[in-house]
Amino acid sequence: MMEKVKYRLRLLVFCSLFLLTRSHCSTDEEPFRLFGEKTFYEHVGGKLPAIEERAPEYCQPIHINMLIRHGARYPDPDDSFPALPELFKLARKINITGTATQCPEDIKALLNWKVWATIYDNGNVTREGAKEMSDLAFRFKQAFPEILNKDIPANQFWFSSTDIPQTRQSLSPFKTEILKNNENQLRTENRLREAQEVIPRLEDDQIFSKNCEKYMVRVSRNVSVTPEFKAFLNGPLVEGIVKGVTRRLGFPKGAIDRFVVWKMYTIGCYYQQWVDNENGPWCAAFTREELEILSFAEDIRNYEMKSRKISISYEKNCFVSKEIMSSLLDSRTKDMLDQPHLAGRFRLVHTSNIVTTVANFRLYEVDEPLTSQNFESKRNREFNFAKMVPTAANLVFVLYRCDDPSLAVDYKVQVLWNENVVPVPGCPQEGTVGQLCDLDKFMRIYPTFVVGSLHECDQDEICRLPRSMSFQGHY
Ligand SMILES: *[C@@H]1O[C@H](CO)[C@@H](O)[C@H](O)[C@H]1NC(C)=O
Ligand SMILES: *[C@@H]1O[C@H](CO)[C@@H](O)[C@H](O)[C@H]1NC(C)=O
Ligand SMILES: *[C@@H]1O[C@H](CO)[C@@H](O)[C@H](O)[C@H]1NC(C)=O
Repeated sequence: MMEKVKYRLRLLVFCSLFLLTRSHCSTDEEPFRLFGEKTFYEHVGGKLPAIEERAPEYCQPIHINMLIRHGARYPDPDDSFPALPELFKLARKINITGTATQCPEDIKALLNWKVWATIYDNGNVTREGAKEMSDLAFRFKQAFPEILNKDIPANQFWFSSTDIPQTRQSLSPFKTEILKNNENQLRTENRLREAQEVIPRLEDDQIFSKNCEKYMVRVSRNVSVTPEFKAFLNGPLVEGIVKGVTRRLGFPKGAIDRFVVWKMYTIGCYYQQWVDNENGPWCAAFTREELEILSFAEDIRNYEMKSRKISISYEKNCFVSKEIMSSLLDSRTKDMLDQPHLAGRFRLVHTSNIVTTVANFRLYEVDEPLTSQNFESKRNREFNFAKMVPTAANLVFVLYRCDDPSLAVDYKVQVLWNENVVPVPGCPQEGTVGQLCDLDKFMRIYPTFVVGSLHECDQDEICRLPRSMSFQGHY
Protein backbone atom coordinates (compact mmCIF):
# COMPACT_ATOMS: atom_id res chain seq x y z
CA MET A 1 0.00 0.00 0.00
CA MET A 2 2.68 2.47 1.11
CA GLU A 3 4.76 1.53 -1.93
CA LYS A 4 1.90 2.33 -4.22
CA VAL A 5 1.45 5.80 -2.72
CA LYS A 6 5.16 6.47 -2.99
CA TYR A 7 5.16 5.37 -6.57
CA ARG A 8 2.27 7.65 -7.38
CA LEU A 9 3.93 10.56 -5.67
CA ARG A 10 7.12 9.98 -7.62
CA LEU A 11 5.15 9.77 -10.81
CA LEU A 12 3.37 13.03 -9.99
CA VAL A 13 6.62 14.86 -9.24
CA PHE A 14 8.18 13.48 -12.38
CA CYS A 15 5.24 14.52 -14.54
CA SER A 16 5.11 18.06 -13.14
CA LEU A 17 8.82 18.53 -13.71
CA PHE A 18 8.38 17.25 -17.21
CA LEU A 19 5.52 19.66 -17.89
CA LEU A 20 7.50 22.61 -16.55
CA THR A 21 10.65 22.04 -18.56
CA ARG A 22 9.41 20.35 -21.69
CA SER A 23 9.28 22.55 -24.77
CA HIS A 24 5.90 23.94 -25.68
CA CYS A 25 4.77 23.84 -29.27
CA SER A 26 1.76 25.47 -30.92
CA THR A 27 1.02 22.18 -32.67
CA ASP A 28 0.65 20.34 -29.32
CA GLU A 29 -2.92 21.47 -28.84
CA GLU A 30 -6.06 22.09 -30.86
CA PRO A 31 -5.81 25.83 -31.73
CA PHE A 32 -7.91 28.19 -29.63
CA ARG A 33 -10.44 30.01 -31.83
CA LEU A 34 -12.58 32.23 -29.67
CA PHE A 35 -11.10 35.69 -29.96
CA GLY A 36 -14.03 37.85 -28.92
CA GLU A 37 -15.36 39.95 -31.79
CA LYS A 38 -12.37 38.83 -33.91
CA THR A 39 -13.81 35.31 -34.01
CA PHE A 40 -14.74 33.81 -37.36
CA TYR A 41 -18.42 33.10 -37.76
CA GLU A 42 -17.85 29.48 -38.83
CA HIS A 43 -16.54 28.61 -35.35
CA VAL A 44 -19.65 29.75 -33.50
CA GLY A 45 -22.56 30.28 -35.91
CA GLY A 46 -25.71 28.17 -35.50
CA LYS A 47 -27.72 26.27 -38.07
CA LEU A 48 -30.92 27.68 -39.51
CA PRO A 49 -33.93 25.40 -39.05
CA ALA A 50 -34.99 23.34 -42.06
CA ILE A 51 -38.18 24.52 -43.76
CA GLU A 52 -40.31 21.79 -42.12
CA GLU A 53 -39.00 22.74 -38.68
CA ARG A 54 -39.01 26.48 -39.19
CA ALA A 55 -42.59 27.23 -38.16
CA PRO A 56 -46.01 25.51 -38.14
CA GLU A 57 -46.89 24.57 -41.71
CA TYR A 58 -49.78 27.05 -41.86
CA CYS A 59 -47.34 29.94 -41.25
CA GLN A 60 -45.62 31.61 -44.23
CA PRO A 61 -42.76 34.09 -43.92
CA ILE A 62 -43.67 37.45 -45.48
CA HIS A 63 -40.92 39.77 -44.29
CA ILE A 64 -37.36 39.37 -43.04
CA ASN A 65 -35.43 42.02 -41.18
CA MET A 66 -31.71 41.55 -40.64
CA LEU A 67 -29.02 43.41 -38.76
CA ILE A 68 -25.70 42.08 -39.94
CA ARG A 69 -22.19 42.73 -38.76
CA HIS A 70 -19.54 43.13 -41.47
CA GLY A 71 -17.15 40.29 -42.29
CA ALA A 72 -13.49 39.89 -41.29
CA ARG A 73 -11.45 42.95 -42.17
CA TYR A 74 -7.99 44.47 -42.22
CA PRO A 75 -7.08 46.89 -39.45
CA ASP A 76 -8.24 50.47 -39.81
CA PRO A 77 -6.41 53.66 -38.86
CA ASP A 78 -7.99 53.65 -35.37
CA ASP A 79 -6.27 50.40 -34.52
CA SER A 80 -3.00 50.35 -32.63
CA PHE A 81 -0.41 50.18 -35.41
CA PRO A 82 2.41 51.61 -33.30
CA ALA A 83 2.37 48.31 -31.42
CA LEU A 84 3.48 46.43 -34.52
CA PRO A 85 7.02 47.89 -34.81
CA GLU A 86 7.24 47.49 -31.05
CA LEU A 87 6.50 43.80 -31.38
CA PHE A 88 9.02 43.56 -34.18
CA LYS A 89 11.74 44.91 -31.88
CA LEU A 90 10.64 42.56 -29.16
CA ALA A 91 10.95 39.58 -31.46
CA ARG A 92 14.68 40.37 -31.77
CA LYS A 93 15.06 39.65 -28.05
CA ILE A 94 13.66 36.16 -28.22
CA ASN A 95 15.89 33.49 -26.66
CA ILE A 96 18.47 36.07 -25.59
CA THR A 97 18.81 34.02 -22.43
CA GLY A 98 19.45 30.89 -24.46
CA THR A 99 16.86 29.09 -22.35
CA ALA A 100 13.68 29.47 -24.43
CA THR A 101 11.46 26.44 -23.93
CA GLN A 102 9.21 27.08 -26.92
CA CYS A 103 9.84 24.58 -29.71
CA PRO A 104 12.32 25.68 -32.42
CA GLU A 105 9.65 25.86 -35.18
CA ASP A 106 7.63 28.45 -33.27
CA ILE A 107 10.71 30.43 -32.30
CA LYS A 108 11.80 30.50 -35.91
CA ALA A 109 8.41 31.73 -37.07
CA LEU A 110 8.57 34.57 -34.56
CA LEU A 111 12.10 35.51 -35.58
CA ASN A 112 10.89 35.67 -39.19
CA TRP A 113 7.73 37.57 -38.31
CA LYS A 114 7.27 40.86 -40.15
CA VAL A 115 5.10 43.90 -39.59
CA TRP A 116 2.16 42.92 -41.74
CA ALA A 117 -0.28 45.82 -41.59
CA THR A 118 -0.05 49.46 -42.53
CA ILE A 119 -2.18 52.53 -42.00
CA TYR A 120 -3.32 52.10 -45.61
CA ASP A 121 -5.24 48.93 -44.91
CA ASN A 122 -8.19 51.14 -44.13
CA GLY A 123 -10.48 48.51 -42.60
CA ASN A 124 -11.09 46.83 -45.96
CA VAL A 125 -12.91 43.52 -45.84
CA THR A 126 -10.68 40.51 -46.43
CA ARG A 127 -11.46 37.93 -49.07
CA GLU A 128 -12.62 35.57 -46.32
CA GLY A 129 -14.79 38.37 -44.91
CA ALA A 130 -16.52 38.89 -48.28
CA LYS A 131 -17.17 35.17 -48.48
CA GLU A 132 -18.71 35.17 -45.02
CA MET A 133 -21.21 37.70 -46.37
CA SER A 134 -22.23 35.83 -49.51
CA ASP A 135 -22.39 32.52 -47.61
CA LEU A 136 -24.68 34.07 -45.04
CA ALA A 137 -27.00 35.42 -47.73
CA PHE A 138 -26.99 32.04 -49.46
CA ARG A 139 -28.03 30.15 -46.32
CA PHE A 140 -30.88 32.57 -45.65
CA LYS A 141 -32.10 32.17 -49.22
CA GLN A 142 -32.22 28.42 -48.69
CA ALA A 143 -34.10 28.80 -45.42
CA PHE A 144 -36.62 31.43 -46.59
CA PRO A 145 -37.14 30.77 -50.30
CA GLU A 146 -40.66 32.27 -50.25
CA ILE A 147 -39.33 35.80 -49.68
CA LEU A 148 -35.71 35.62 -50.78
CA ASN A 149 -35.94 34.63 -54.40
CA LYS A 150 -35.36 36.12 -57.81
CA ASP A 151 -39.08 36.46 -58.60
CA ILE A 152 -39.77 39.02 -55.89
CA PRO A 153 -39.42 42.53 -57.39
CA ALA A 154 -36.04 44.00 -56.45
CA ASN A 155 -37.59 47.23 -55.16
CA GLN A 156 -39.11 45.21 -52.31
CA PHE A 157 -35.62 44.85 -50.86
CA TRP A 158 -34.02 47.59 -48.81
CA PHE A 159 -30.30 47.66 -48.02
CA SER A 160 -28.32 49.99 -45.85
CA SER A 161 -24.86 50.26 -44.46
CA THR A 162 -22.79 52.70 -42.50
CA ASP A 163 -20.43 54.77 -44.61
CA ILE A 164 -17.29 52.87 -43.60
CA PRO A 165 -15.19 50.55 -45.78
CA GLN A 166 -15.86 47.32 -43.86
CA THR A 167 -19.64 47.68 -43.94
CA ARG A 168 -19.88 49.04 -47.50
CA GLN A 169 -17.61 46.28 -48.76
CA SER A 170 -19.67 43.69 -46.88
CA LEU A 171 -22.95 45.00 -48.22
CA SER A 172 -21.92 44.41 -51.80
CA PRO A 173 -21.36 40.60 -51.77
CA PHE A 174 -24.36 40.14 -49.47
CA LYS A 175 -26.69 42.16 -51.67
CA THR A 176 -25.48 40.50 -54.85
CA GLU A 177 -26.14 37.05 -53.43
CA ILE A 178 -29.63 38.01 -52.25
CA LEU A 179 -30.66 39.55 -55.58
CA LYS A 180 -28.87 37.47 -58.12
CA ASN A 181 -30.52 35.65 -60.94
CA ASN A 182 -28.32 32.69 -61.77
CA GLU A 183 -29.70 32.30 -65.28
CA ASN A 184 -29.38 35.89 -66.36
CA GLN A 185 -26.48 38.22 -65.55
CA LEU A 186 -28.20 41.25 -67.08
CA ARG A 187 -31.28 40.78 -64.90
CA THR A 188 -29.00 40.50 -61.87
CA GLU A 189 -27.47 43.85 -62.76
CA ASN A 190 -30.89 45.43 -63.16
CA ARG A 191 -32.06 44.01 -59.88
CA LEU A 192 -28.99 45.41 -58.13
CA ARG A 193 -29.91 48.86 -59.48
CA GLU A 194 -33.62 48.59 -58.68
CA ALA A 195 -33.22 47.57 -55.04
CA GLN A 196 -33.44 50.34 -52.47
CA GLU A 197 -30.15 51.38 -50.92
CA VAL A 198 -29.40 53.96 -48.25
CA ILE A 199 -25.96 54.95 -46.98
CA PRO A 200 -26.31 57.96 -44.68
CA ARG A 201 -23.50 60.44 -44.25
CA LEU A 202 -21.35 59.55 -41.25
CA GLU A 203 -21.97 62.79 -39.42
CA ASP A 204 -25.76 62.34 -39.66
CA ASP A 205 -25.83 58.64 -38.90
CA GLN A 206 -27.37 58.01 -35.50
CA ILE A 207 -26.13 54.46 -35.56
CA PHE A 208 -22.63 55.71 -34.81
CA SER A 209 -21.65 55.65 -31.19
CA LYS A 210 -19.51 58.71 -31.84
CA ASN A 211 -22.67 60.67 -32.60
CA CYS A 212 -24.08 59.82 -29.16
CA GLU A 213 -22.49 62.37 -26.86
CA LYS A 214 -23.70 60.85 -23.62
CA TYR A 215 -22.29 57.45 -24.50
CA MET A 216 -18.93 58.95 -25.47
CA VAL A 217 -18.62 60.85 -22.18
CA ARG A 218 -20.11 58.27 -19.82
CA VAL A 219 -18.53 55.17 -21.33
CA SER A 220 -16.28 55.41 -24.34
CA ARG A 221 -13.92 58.12 -23.08
CA ASN A 222 -14.45 57.35 -19.41
CA VAL A 223 -11.18 56.03 -17.98
CA SER A 224 -12.84 54.78 -14.79
CA VAL A 225 -15.46 52.64 -16.46
CA THR A 226 -13.46 49.38 -16.43
CA PRO A 227 -12.16 48.81 -12.87
CA GLU A 228 -12.61 45.02 -12.97
CA PHE A 229 -10.79 44.68 -16.28
CA LYS A 230 -7.86 46.62 -14.82
CA ALA A 231 -7.89 44.56 -11.64
CA PHE A 232 -7.84 41.38 -13.71
CA LEU A 233 -4.88 42.59 -15.79
CA ASN A 234 -3.08 43.29 -12.51
CA GLY A 235 -4.05 39.96 -11.00
CA PRO A 236 -2.30 36.62 -10.56
CA LEU A 237 -3.67 34.90 -13.68
CA VAL A 238 -2.17 37.47 -16.03
CA GLU A 239 0.99 37.56 -13.91
CA GLY A 240 1.27 33.81 -14.54
CA ILE A 241 0.97 34.41 -18.28
CA VAL A 242 3.77 37.01 -18.19
CA LYS A 243 6.01 34.44 -16.49
CA GLY A 244 5.00 31.68 -18.88
CA VAL A 245 5.68 33.76 -21.99
CA THR A 246 8.99 35.02 -20.53
CA ARG A 247 10.13 31.45 -19.95
CA ARG A 248 8.92 30.01 -23.23
CA LEU A 249 10.37 32.78 -25.39
CA GLY A 250 13.58 33.10 -23.37
CA PHE A 251 13.24 36.79 -22.50
CA PRO A 252 15.38 38.12 -19.66
CA LYS A 253 13.44 38.31 -16.40
CA GLY A 254 11.36 41.51 -16.28
CA ALA A 255 11.83 42.24 -20.00
CA ILE A 256 8.09 42.11 -20.63
CA ASP A 257 5.15 43.13 -18.51
CA ARG A 258 1.38 42.64 -18.68
CA PHE A 259 0.96 45.53 -21.11
CA VAL A 260 3.39 44.01 -23.57
CA VAL A 261 1.66 40.65 -23.18
CA TRP A 262 -1.64 42.37 -23.93
CA LYS A 263 -0.19 43.77 -27.16
CA MET A 264 1.14 40.34 -28.13
CA TYR A 265 -2.34 38.94 -27.61
CA THR A 266 -4.37 41.66 -29.34
CA ILE A 267 -2.34 43.24 -32.15
CA GLY A 268 0.11 40.37 -32.35
CA CYS A 269 -2.12 37.30 -32.11
CA TYR A 270 -5.79 37.83 -32.75
CA TYR A 271 -5.68 40.67 -35.24
CA GLN A 272 -3.38 38.75 -37.52
CA GLN A 273 -5.46 35.57 -37.20
CA TRP A 274 -8.44 37.68 -38.32
CA VAL A 275 -6.67 38.54 -41.55
CA ASP A 276 -4.87 35.22 -42.13
CA ASN A 277 -7.70 32.99 -40.89
CA GLU A 278 -5.28 30.98 -38.76
CA ASN A 279 -3.40 31.44 -35.53
CA GLY A 280 -0.06 33.07 -36.30
CA PRO A 281 3.37 33.21 -34.57
CA TRP A 282 2.31 35.47 -31.70
CA CYS A 283 -0.58 33.19 -30.80
CA ALA A 284 1.95 30.38 -30.55
CA ALA A 285 3.60 32.11 -27.59
CA PHE A 286 0.51 31.34 -25.49
CA THR A 287 -1.01 28.10 -24.28
CA ARG A 288 -4.71 27.45 -24.97
CA GLU A 289 -5.48 28.06 -21.32
CA GLU A 290 -3.69 31.41 -21.45
CA LEU A 291 -5.63 32.49 -24.53
CA GLU A 292 -8.83 31.54 -22.74
CA ILE A 293 -7.82 33.69 -19.76
CA LEU A 294 -7.01 36.67 -22.01
CA SER A 295 -10.29 36.34 -23.86
CA PHE A 296 -12.04 36.38 -20.49
CA ALA A 297 -10.19 39.61 -19.67
CA GLU A 298 -11.55 41.13 -22.84
CA ASP A 299 -15.07 40.01 -21.96
CA ILE A 300 -14.79 41.66 -18.54
CA ARG A 301 -14.10 44.90 -20.36
CA ASN A 302 -16.96 44.25 -22.80
CA TYR A 303 -19.21 43.54 -19.85
CA GLU A 304 -18.23 46.79 -18.17
CA MET A 305 -18.71 48.87 -21.32
CA LYS A 306 -21.24 47.15 -23.55
CA SER A 307 -23.59 44.93 -21.57
CA ARG A 308 -27.14 45.30 -20.30
CA LYS A 309 -25.63 46.37 -17.00
CA ILE A 310 -25.02 49.89 -18.25
CA SER A 311 -28.15 51.42 -19.68
CA ILE A 312 -26.74 54.13 -21.98
CA SER A 313 -24.76 51.37 -23.71
CA TYR A 314 -27.89 49.79 -25.11
CA GLU A 315 -30.44 52.59 -25.04
CA LYS A 316 -28.27 54.52 -27.47
CA ASN A 317 -29.44 52.25 -30.28
CA CYS A 318 -33.16 52.54 -29.64
CA PHE A 319 -33.89 53.96 -33.07
CA VAL A 320 -32.65 50.74 -34.70
CA SER A 321 -35.05 48.69 -32.58
CA LYS A 322 -37.84 51.13 -33.46
CA GLU A 323 -37.08 50.71 -37.15
CA ILE A 324 -37.31 46.95 -36.81
CA MET A 325 -40.65 47.19 -35.00
CA SER A 326 -41.99 49.69 -37.54
CA SER A 327 -41.12 47.58 -40.54
CA LEU A 328 -42.75 44.51 -38.98
CA LEU A 329 -45.92 46.51 -38.33
CA ASP A 330 -45.87 48.16 -41.73
CA SER A 331 -45.49 44.80 -43.47
CA ARG A 332 -48.45 43.41 -41.56
CA THR A 333 -50.65 46.39 -42.42
CA LYS A 334 -49.80 46.21 -46.12
CA ASP A 335 -50.18 42.48 -46.23
CA MET A 336 -53.67 42.77 -44.74
CA LEU A 337 -54.52 45.35 -47.41
CA ASP A 338 -52.96 43.15 -50.05
CA GLN A 339 -50.43 45.84 -50.93
CA PRO A 340 -46.78 45.27 -51.80
CA HIS A 341 -44.44 45.61 -48.83
CA LEU A 342 -40.76 45.04 -48.13
CA ALA A 343 -39.79 41.40 -48.39
CA GLY A 344 -36.34 42.02 -46.94
CA ARG A 345 -34.73 44.80 -44.99
CA PHE A 346 -30.98 44.47 -44.42
CA ARG A 347 -28.68 46.71 -42.43
CA LEU A 348 -24.89 46.25 -42.38
CA VAL A 349 -23.61 47.41 -39.03
CA HIS A 350 -20.91 47.10 -36.37
CA THR A 351 -20.29 45.05 -33.22
CA SER A 352 -21.79 47.63 -30.91
CA ASN A 353 -25.03 47.85 -32.90
CA ILE A 354 -25.61 44.12 -32.64
CA VAL A 355 -24.78 43.90 -28.93
CA THR A 356 -26.91 46.91 -28.10
CA THR A 357 -29.88 45.64 -30.09
CA VAL A 358 -29.83 42.18 -28.49
CA ALA A 359 -29.62 44.00 -25.15
CA ASN A 360 -32.56 46.21 -26.16
CA PHE A 361 -34.67 43.15 -26.89
CA ARG A 362 -33.36 41.47 -23.70
CA LEU A 363 -32.28 38.39 -25.62
CA TYR A 364 -29.71 37.35 -23.04
CA GLU A 365 -29.81 37.20 -19.28
CA VAL A 366 -27.75 39.59 -17.23
CA ASP A 367 -26.18 36.89 -15.17
CA GLU A 368 -23.68 37.44 -12.42
CA PRO A 369 -21.24 40.18 -13.45
CA LEU A 370 -17.91 39.17 -14.91
CA THR A 371 -15.28 40.30 -12.44
CA SER A 372 -11.58 40.00 -11.80
CA GLN A 373 -12.38 37.15 -9.40
CA ASN A 374 -14.61 34.73 -11.28
CA PHE A 375 -12.76 33.36 -14.31
CA GLU A 376 -13.14 29.70 -13.22
CA SER A 377 -16.89 29.82 -12.66
CA LYS A 378 -17.47 31.84 -15.84
CA ARG A 379 -15.67 29.67 -18.35
CA ASN A 380 -19.03 28.80 -19.89
CA ARG A 381 -20.46 32.30 -19.55
CA GLU A 382 -23.42 33.47 -21.56
CA PHE A 383 -21.86 36.91 -21.99
CA ASN A 384 -19.16 35.81 -24.40
CA PHE A 385 -18.42 38.17 -27.28
CA ALA A 386 -16.97 35.37 -29.41
CA LYS A 387 -20.39 33.72 -29.50
CA MET A 388 -22.44 36.92 -29.44
CA VAL A 389 -20.74 39.02 -32.12
CA PRO A 390 -18.32 37.08 -34.30
CA THR A 391 -17.72 38.36 -37.82
CA ALA A 392 -20.94 38.35 -39.84
CA ALA A 393 -22.96 38.20 -36.59
CA ASN A 394 -26.63 38.58 -37.35
CA LEU A 395 -29.87 39.38 -35.58
CA VAL A 396 -32.94 38.53 -37.57
CA PHE A 397 -36.68 39.13 -37.20
CA VAL A 398 -39.00 37.16 -39.43
CA LEU A 399 -42.68 38.05 -39.81
CA TYR A 400 -45.03 35.17 -40.59
CA ARG A 401 -48.65 35.20 -41.68
CA CYS A 402 -50.36 32.24 -40.04
CA ASP A 403 -53.57 30.83 -41.49
CA ASP A 404 -54.42 28.38 -38.75
CA PRO A 405 -57.59 26.76 -40.14
CA SER A 406 -59.23 26.88 -36.70
CA LEU A 407 -58.45 30.55 -36.06
CA ALA A 408 -58.49 33.95 -37.76
CA VAL A 409 -55.42 34.96 -39.79
CA ASP A 410 -52.68 35.98 -37.46
CA TYR A 411 -49.19 37.53 -37.66
CA LYS A 412 -46.24 36.24 -35.67
CA VAL A 413 -42.58 37.09 -35.15
CA GLN A 414 -39.60 34.79 -34.93
CA VAL A 415 -36.20 35.94 -33.69
CA LEU A 416 -32.93 34.37 -34.80
CA TRP A 417 -29.52 35.29 -33.45
CA ASN A 418 -26.51 33.95 -35.36
CA GLU A 419 -28.86 31.46 -37.01
CA ASN A 420 -30.26 30.08 -33.75
CA VAL A 421 -33.92 30.57 -32.93
CA VAL A 422 -34.13 32.51 -29.66
CA PRO A 423 -37.26 32.85 -27.52
CA VAL A 424 -38.75 36.30 -27.02
CA PRO A 425 -38.63 36.83 -23.25
CA GLY A 426 -42.12 36.98 -21.77
CA CYS A 427 -43.81 35.52 -24.85
CA PRO A 428 -44.92 32.03 -23.89
CA GLN A 429 -44.14 29.69 -26.74
CA GLU A 430 -42.71 26.63 -25.02
CA GLY A 431 -42.76 23.51 -27.08
CA THR A 432 -44.07 25.29 -30.19
CA VAL A 433 -42.39 24.87 -33.55
CA GLY A 434 -40.13 27.86 -34.28
CA GLN A 435 -40.98 29.71 -31.02
CA LEU A 436 -43.13 32.29 -32.80
CA CYS A 437 -44.54 35.21 -30.83
CA ASP A 438 -47.81 36.97 -31.72
CA LEU A 439 -46.98 40.35 -33.22
CA ASP A 440 -49.50 42.09 -30.91
CA LYS A 441 -47.90 40.49 -27.90
CA PHE A 442 -44.47 41.39 -29.26
CA MET A 443 -45.54 45.06 -29.38
CA ARG A 444 -46.76 44.92 -25.80
CA ILE A 445 -43.47 43.41 -24.64
CA TYR A 446 -41.44 46.23 -26.21
CA PRO A 447 -43.59 49.38 -25.96
CA THR A 448 -40.49 51.62 -26.10
CA PHE A 449 -39.96 50.63 -29.74
CA VAL A 450 -43.53 51.23 -30.88
CA VAL A 451 -43.72 54.60 -32.60
CA GLY A 452 -46.53 56.69 -31.12
CA SER A 453 -46.81 54.65 -27.93
CA LEU A 454 -46.72 56.35 -24.56
CA HIS A 455 -43.31 54.84 -23.84
CA GLU A 456 -41.67 55.45 -27.20
CA CYS A 457 -37.95 56.04 -26.73
CA ASP A 458 -36.30 59.18 -28.04
CA GLN A 459 -32.83 58.74 -29.45
CA ASP A 460 -31.90 62.44 -29.20
CA GLU A 461 -32.94 62.65 -25.61
CA ILE A 462 -31.10 59.44 -24.71
CA CYS A 463 -27.86 60.72 -26.20
CA ARG A 464 -28.10 64.27 -24.86
CA LEU A 465 -25.91 65.16 -21.90
CA PRO A 466 -27.15 67.42 -19.13
CA ARG A 467 -26.24 70.98 -20.17
CA SER A 468 -23.67 71.31 -17.41
CA MET A 469 -21.56 68.54 -18.93
CA SER A 470 -21.96 68.95 -22.62
CA PHE A 471 -19.22 71.49 -23.29
CA GLN A 472 -16.60 69.87 -21.14
CA GLY A 473 -13.18 70.23 -22.64
CA HIS A 474 -14.29 72.10 -25.73
CA TYR A 475 -13.08 75.58 -24.80
C1 LIG B 1 18.06 29.10 -27.70
O1 LIG B 1 19.40 29.46 -27.60
C2 LIG B 1 20.23 28.38 -27.18
C3 LIG B 1 21.63 28.93 -26.95
O2 LIG B 1 22.06 29.64 -28.07
C4 LIG B 1 20.20 27.30 -28.22
O3 LIG B 1 21.01 26.20 -27.83
C5 LIG B 1 18.77 26.82 -28.38
O4 LIG B 1 18.66 25.88 -29.41
C6 LIG B 1 17.86 27.99 -28.68
N1 LIG B 1 16.46 27.54 -28.62
C7 LIG B 1 15.63 27.62 -29.66
C8 LIG B 1 14.29 27.03 -29.43
O5 LIG B 1 15.94 28.14 -30.69
C1 LIG C 1 -9.27 49.38 -49.68
O1 LIG C 1 -10.42 49.54 -50.49
C2 LIG C 1 -10.44 50.75 -51.21
C3 LIG C 1 -11.81 50.89 -51.86
O2 LIG C 1 -12.28 49.71 -52.35
C4 LIG C 1 -9.31 50.72 -52.23
O3 LIG C 1 -9.30 51.90 -52.98
C5 LIG C 1 -8.00 50.59 -51.46
O4 LIG C 1 -6.93 50.47 -52.37
C6 LIG C 1 -8.04 49.38 -50.56
N1 LIG C 1 -6.83 49.41 -49.73
C7 LIG C 1 -6.02 48.34 -49.65
C8 LIG C 1 -4.78 48.52 -48.79
O5 LIG C 1 -6.23 47.30 -50.23
C1 LIG D 1 -17.38 56.85 -15.47
O1 LIG D 1 -17.68 55.54 -15.02
C2 LIG D 1 -17.87 55.42 -13.63
C3 LIG D 1 -18.02 53.93 -13.33
O2 LIG D 1 -19.09 53.39 -14.03
C4 LIG D 1 -19.05 56.27 -13.21
O3 LIG D 1 -19.26 56.17 -11.82
C5 LIG D 1 -18.83 57.70 -13.61
O4 LIG D 1 -19.97 58.48 -13.32
C6 LIG D 1 -18.51 57.80 -15.10
N1 LIG D 1 -18.15 59.15 -15.46
C7 LIG D 1 -18.94 59.92 -16.23
C8 LIG D 1 -18.39 61.26 -16.60
O5 LIG D 1 -20.02 59.58 -16.61
